[in-house]
Amino acid sequence: MSDLISVGQMGYYAKWFFKSKVGMKRPLVNTMIINFNCNLHCKHCSISGNVDKLPNPFQIDFENAKREMREQYTKGARILFFEGGEPTLWKDGEKDLRDLIQAGKDLGYFVIGYTTNGTNPIVENSDVVSVSLDGPKEIHDQIRGEGTYEKLMENLAKTTHPNIFANMTIMRHNVDSVRETVELVAKNDRIRGIMLNFITPPPSDIALTLEEKKRVVELALQMKKEGFPILNTTKALRDMLIEDFGGLCQDWVSAFVLPDCSHYGGCPLKGTESCKKCGFDAVREYRLIVKGSPSAITQMSRRFAYSKK
Ligand SMILES: C[S@@+](CC[C@H](N)C(=O)[O-])C[C@H]1O[C@@H](n2cnc3c(N)ncnc32)[C@H](O)[C@@H]1O
Repeated sequence: MSDLISVGQMGYYAKWFFKSKVGMKRPLVNTMIINFNCNLHCKHCSISGNVDKLPNPFQIDFENAKREMREQYTKGARILFFEGGEPTLWKDGEKDLRDLIQAGKDLGYFVIGYTTNGTNPIVENSDVVSVSLDGPKEIHDQIRGEGTYEKLMENLAKTTHPNIFANMTIMRHNVDSVRETVELVAKNDRIRGIMLNFITPPPSDIALTLEEKKRVVELALQMKKEGFPILNTTKALRDMLIEDFGGLCQDWVSAFVLPDCSHYGGCPLKGTESCKKCGFDAVREYRLIVKGSPSAITQMSRRFAYSKK
């Protein structure tokens, strides 16, 4: 895999950036929640906690998925991320996640990725894979279920995929395990780095106080200085402490599509209490990119904006 973005792709990103400066707000990312089904019931997951309230169908079919991919591509999106539920469980007849990824490539998306709990084998034709890692074995299993850590490590050991990173959601259960989790990632040669996020409520009872968040951010900044592979930019880490991020979020950077084909020009949580208390690092990085922050643009593009050759 080349660490370089092709000249054509670079030109497209530059054009997108300058157009956004003159008010042409077009999505660059297409986030598709392709299913709500999951084999786990994680403590912090608002999807598994609200299955009875979710719109049907629970998964998008292949033809609709292709149509939605095309629609957002036409609007400008060039980075495609599949989310769930658990994306590796997605199936439509003979088609599986590998076929969705190939369909995205055929349409011309530059980069395609997905997030997974890692209990199924890594899907190799994805450019980027984000594996959820919420702590060392005991803590990860407490949050995600018995045996899930071992399964994730087994599947990582079997892959040679070059662009896997870990995604940690920090909540009451794992707030004291951040250093240990980052150290585990640093030692694992299959994982390139870790993105730290705070839980977005609901559920609220396991969310962190501002004081606890400050301690995590200080620790993360210190570990970055020590050379640990924390992928959040320094500025975004500081922005994790902004208590109401709602009015600051440049949510239009990513389109959202749900399994019932409803789509959003930005985040489905916009305007809600969850939006105010959003703990996702990515939305801080989007804002910094739109503001023209050189560190966010270079660091995020090196990690998420290039294709597997
Ligand atoms: C919804 S999951 C879907 C993909 C897959 N099933 C998994 O576990 O990675 C995507 C990511 O969102 C995170 N997540 C789930 N609920 C969250 C919440 N309430 N706040 C912040 N992140 C959350 C998960 O930990 C995971 O890393």
